[in-house]
Order: sequence, then C-alpha cells, then structure tokens
Amino acid sequence: MSANLASFLYLVSGVLFIMALRGLSHPTTSRQGNFYGMVGMGIAILTTLAFATPSVGGFLLIVLGLAIGGSVGAVIARRIQMTKMPQLVAAFHSLVGLAAVMVAAAALYSPESFNIGTVGAIHGQALVEMSLGVAIGAVTFTGSIIAFLKLDGRMSGKPILLPMRHLVNAGIGVALVILIAMLVMGQSPTAFWLIVILSLALGVLIIIPIGGADMPVVVSMLNSYSGWAAAGIGFTLGNLALIITGALVGSSGAILSYIMCKGMNRSFISVILGGFGGETAAVADDGIERTVKQGSADDAAYLMQNAQKVIIVPGYGMAVAQAQHALREMADKLKEAGVEVKYAIHPVAGRMPGHMNVLLAEAQVPYDEVFELEDINSEFSQADVAYVIGANDVTNPAARDDKSSPIYGMPILDVDKARTCLFVKRSLGSGYAGIDNTLFYKDGTMMLLGDAKKMTEDIVKALES
Ligand code: TAP
Repeated sequence: MSANLASFLYLVSGVLFIMALRGLSHPTTSRQGNFYGMVGMGIAILTTLAFATPSVGGFLLIVLGLAIGGSVGAVIARRIQMTKMPQLVAAFHSLVGLAAVMVAAAALYSPESFNIGTVGAIHGQALVEMSLGVAIGAVTFTGSIIAFLKLDGRMSGKPILLPMRHLVNAGIGVALVILIAMLVMGQSPTAFWLIVILSLALGVLIIIPIGGADMPVVVSMLNSYSGWAAAGIGFTLGNLALIITGALVGSSGAILSYIMCKGMNRSFISVILGGFGGETAAVADDGIERTVKQGSADDAAYLMQNAQKVIIVPGYGMAVAQAQHALREMADKLKEAGVEVKYAIHPVAGRMPGHMNVLLAEAQVPYDEVFELEDINSEFSQADVAYVIGANDVTNPAARDDKSSPIYGMPILDVDKARTCLFVKRSLGSGYAGIDNTLFYKDGTMMLLGDAKKMTEDIVKALES
C-alpha cells in the first residue's frame, strides 16, 4: 500500500516536471513552469523522506545535507551574475556526475543498504545499472569541470587537438565495455575503479577539443549526460522520481543540444567528436588599413527618429552593461515618434540559451516585438536602422562569406542589409569567438563606441530634447 502511494506521488511529481518543461518553453508561461517544477520537487523530496524510513541519525544527516546544500545553492543563486550562468550550470552538472559515482561506489560496497544483494552477490541487473551510472557520472564530472574552466576563462577556449584523439577515445570506449562486462560477471572492485579512472579521462578528452564557439552545445550536452547519470542512480536506488527526472533532463538536454546545433548550422556528431570553432584571433591582422565611421548619441538619435523601421539586435554586451531597461525606454520613445521597432534574437546571442529573451522580459519588452532569427532576417533589407547593442559574432558576415572562418556556416543576423547599421560597443575588439568583424569598417556602419547602457541612456536624452 505504502509503496503504491509512494509510486503515485512520484508519478504526480513526474507530471509536474513535464508541465514545468512545457511552461519553460515560452516566456509568458515560464514563471508558472518554474512553480510547477518547485512543487514537483517538493513532493518528490517529502515522499522520499516519508517512505524511506531512515533511522533518526539518518534523518539528521539528510536534514543537515539539505540545509548545507540548500543554503549554498540559495546564496550562489542570489549572487550569480546572469552572464556567468553557463559556467555555474557546468559546475553544478559536475556535482551531479560526482554524486552518481559516489552512489555507485556506496552500492558496490554496501549493497544491502540498497536491497540489491550482498557483497560479492549483487544482482546482475543492478550491476549493469551501476556500471552505466558510474561511467556516465565520471565522464560528466570531468567534462563539466573542463567546460567550467573554459567558460570561466580560466582555460583557453582554443580547441586542444591531440594526435589520434578519435582512436584513443574509441580505445577507451572499448576498454570500458570490457570492464563493465568484467564488473557484471566478477563484481571486482578493481574493474569498478578502472571504469571510474577511464571515464574520468574520457570526460577530459571529449571536451578539450571543443572550441569556444561551440561551448553552448557542450553545456547542454553535459546537462543531458547529468540527466542520464541521475536516471542511472535512480535505478540503483529503486527511486521512480529520480528515474523520471533523470530521463526528462537527459532527453530534453539532448533535444536542446540538437536544436542549438541546428541553430549554429553545426553537425551534432562533429561537435561531440570535437575540434570545431576556436579562438582564431584575426583582429585586423591582414595589414589593410581600414577606416571606421564613428558617431555620437545625437547622431544615432537623429537617424533613428527619422527612420520608419528600426530593428534592435541585442548581444552579450547588453547583458554585461545591463542596458535592457534603457533600451526599452529608447524603444518607447521611438514608438512615440511613430517608428516601428522590433527586436531580433539570435539563438546563441549572449552566453546561454534564451539569455536575451530573459533580459528583455525583465525590462518588460512586449513579447510580440521580439522575433527569432528565421522570422526576422528577411526584414533587415527593409529596415532603415539596425541598432546592434553589444552583439558581435552573431552579426559577423565571415560566418556567411568566409569559408576559412571558424564560425563559417553559423547563421547570422543580416544587419548589414539595413540602410544604416549602428554598432554600440566599447572598442573595435572581437567577440567571444575572437574573430574580427569586417562590418565595423563598412560604409553603412556607424560605430557608437562606449558602454551600452550609457550610450543608450544618452540616446534617450537626445530623443527627449
Ligand atoms: P559576442 O560576440 O561575445 O560580442 C559581445 C560584444 O559585446 C563584444 O564584442 C564586446 O565588445 C561588447 N561588450 C562587452 N561589454 C560591453 C559593454 N559594457 N557595453 C557595450 N558593449 C560591450 O556576443 P554575441 O554577439 O551575443 O554572440 C555570442 C557569442 O557567445 C557567440 O560566439 C556564441 O557562440 C558564444 N556563446 C554563446 C552561448 C549561448 S548559449 N548563448 C554560450 C557560450 C558562448 P567591446 O569589448 O568592444 O565592448
């Protein structure tokens, strides 16, 4: 009876998690989605506590763990800057991977506590689940640490391409399959720890060849791995909620990775196998002298006020400068003057999926003014002004025209097709991919050099006067 009730409650939390994912798929329903997720997680935790019947000491340990983990999480969540979210997510994924390894080790040495047999006589099915969980967990652990170091700038984003890396990785993969078979048949702790060591190495080897520009896909892929690792632990622990949640995270992460690859016109397999897109700094290194047209806030205000259509292209610099509120004010002023204003969002603008949408929603930009790349790209040719604020790579024509560019093939927002292109940034420096942007030197471009927030506020003042 109690087992049935627990299963039912886990099912309810599973349904709530699915509703959470559904809600998170659109800005208007995302708060509600988050709420469903929180309620689902609350039900799952309480059900586990109510039906797991641990000893009093065990209870204390669980509460202590919840208190420590919960407070660390709450403090980090309050303090983290939006722009540092990807590395935080990568760091958290590494912990999920580590947890999977630890649970598997505990199950190997104390199978009685998990009802999966006794030492040396663990059920075969549990051994298979355990070995898959530990392998995926260890790959996730080190892979996420490398992703964290690259995203946080503590390690170069440049791909590290080891000789014969595909062969080495394939060799490790084969060795892992053999070790898993040995563990399942012989229950040897040596095989278990060899699986851990090889998987830890594989995590590093898979992520180091991936270049900076493809890091968003990696984060989402590791998200998927951490889900599968959690599902593996769920089987070992016999916990339905963990299996459902792990499978949801695993599959949604995989789908997101696929969508992002499509958005960047990358082959999923080539990104995973490594070596795409790196930091090839080519900042004006061709020796050609180029001229740049620089303008002021007054110039920009004049141009936009007299335009019929302005398309705003936000990027990472808008997030850094927290310019979204000033931007909304500028758009309001332009709309009052009868100008049509739209926002164009590139799928990888900023540093995480949906980064720009979240910031624009925070500034209460109406959703019907915000458009995805494929829905707005054809409109740049009819726009008088493209106002590019803190975006760089996502506008770089090299991705369209230069086959030798590391970002070649990635779709871009065609801002160069607008009559005038205003670029708000602090210098002529490159963006995340480290590639020079020839648009800065084009005839129709006017550079508005300065901090995105300050420049936009100055434009608002100029529009008012
Ligand atoms: P970027 O190409 O990185 O360009 C941002 C620009 O903002 C920089 O060139 C910088 O130029 C400018 N900037 C920085 N601080 C500023 C400030 N306070 N005021 C004004 N400008 C400022 O950004 P993007 O166009 O949004 O492209 C995103 C890039 O990040 C892509 O390469 C993408 O692959 C990568 N990436 C994306 C994600 C996801 S999922 N979105 C995750 C990781 C990496 P100055 O220094 O001259 O000011």
